[in-house]
Amino acid sequence: MNPDLLTITGLGVEINGLPVLSDVSLSLPSHGVLGLVGETGSGKSLTCRALMGLLPRIGGTVVAGSMEFAGTTLTGLDDRGWAKVRGRQIGFVPQASLNALDPVMTVGAQLKEAVRLLDPGTDVKARSHELLDLVRLPDPAHVLRRYPHELSGGMRQRVMIALALAGRPRLLVADEPTTALDVTVQKAILEVFADLRTATGMSLLLVTHDLGVVADVADTIAVMYGGTVVELGSTQQVMTDPSHPYTAALLGARPTTRAAGERLVTIPGVPAVPGQWPTGCRFAPRCEWARDVCRTQQPALLPLADDRSSACHGWPAPHEEAHAHV
Ligand SMILES: Nc1ncnc2c1ncn2[C@@H]1O[C@H](COP(=O)(O)OP(=O)(O)O)[C@@H](O)[C@H]1O
Ligand SMILES: [Mg+2]
Repeated sequence: MNPDLLTITGLGVEINGLPVLSDVSLSLPSHGVLGLVGETGSGKSLTCRALMGLLPRIGGTVVAGSMEFAGTTLTGLDDRGWAKVRGRQIGFVPQASLNALDPVMTVGAQLKEAVRLLDPGTDVKARSHELLDLVRLPDPAHVLRRYPHELSGGMRQRVMIALALAGRPRLLVADEPTTALDVTVQKAILEVFADLRTATGMSLLLVTHDLGVVADVADTIAVMYGGTVVELGSTQQVMTDPSHPYTAALLGARPTTRAAGERLVTIPGVPAVPGQWPTGCRFAPRCEWARDVCRTQQPALLPLADDRSSACHGWPAPHEEAHAHV
């Protein structure tokens, strides 16, 4: 078993005094791929922000827990410390980054600038070609001369990934990298991630609201709900034998075809949002198995057998209790 590259333990985050993440725990082995999944609003992007040291920009602070990365304690790093990690140790493809490229600079100018900054001493031109090869963009010389608006969405996303790789990071964090893309392009981008891991040996944290997206790529899956991690296990375990009712609901929620390429997944009830987290288990109001204890005590994320963890007081509820309390 590879030693863990990243370990987040009991992370708590507040924005302007409002708790937005609590007790977020997950780990990622070297050369591993972790899928971070959960409905919109479950705290996935905030977890990425914490990991990239980007919370201060939105008034956020870490109030509890720790983040350990390759022997470095990230929690508590100052700006200089984060500058050594961000882009260099950990690369980041932010959510909704499809239009984040500078419209008045060619792809080549932007990529070369990133390489100069993050990988000094390298042959900038050769490395730019190599980066576009890594993300499987054919004809790099041609792409380097293009402006972002001349590229398709899928090509722009590949360029964003290439930019995130410029500093040769050991971990790449990609926040919903396929969400705005149609299904075929989604598949192609996921193949890029799978190839990257083989080609570079890097680890990946792949964030998505769609469990189906990570099923083929991730080794392990962390499921978030209401600002906390509710289940952590191997992809096989989580996909075929979920240990938390929320994961089961996510798996059972059938995508409805709306317009081409647009999917809507629904679980009855309303997601738990910061400021309105219920006492007890945050999923209890939407959980068909909820008992009294679920409404009063928040379950901790505890290890089960087989290297997996779950934050649930127990389900299916014992037959008599289900009847006694519903
Ligand atoms: N900048 C912010 N200020 C205040 N609240 C925020 C901010 N960003 C996110 N939140 C709150 O935190 C919750 C989780 O956000 P986020 O991590 O973006 O969710 P996800 O990426 O899983 O969709 C959201 O429901 C939102 O209410
Ligand atoms: Mg998000």
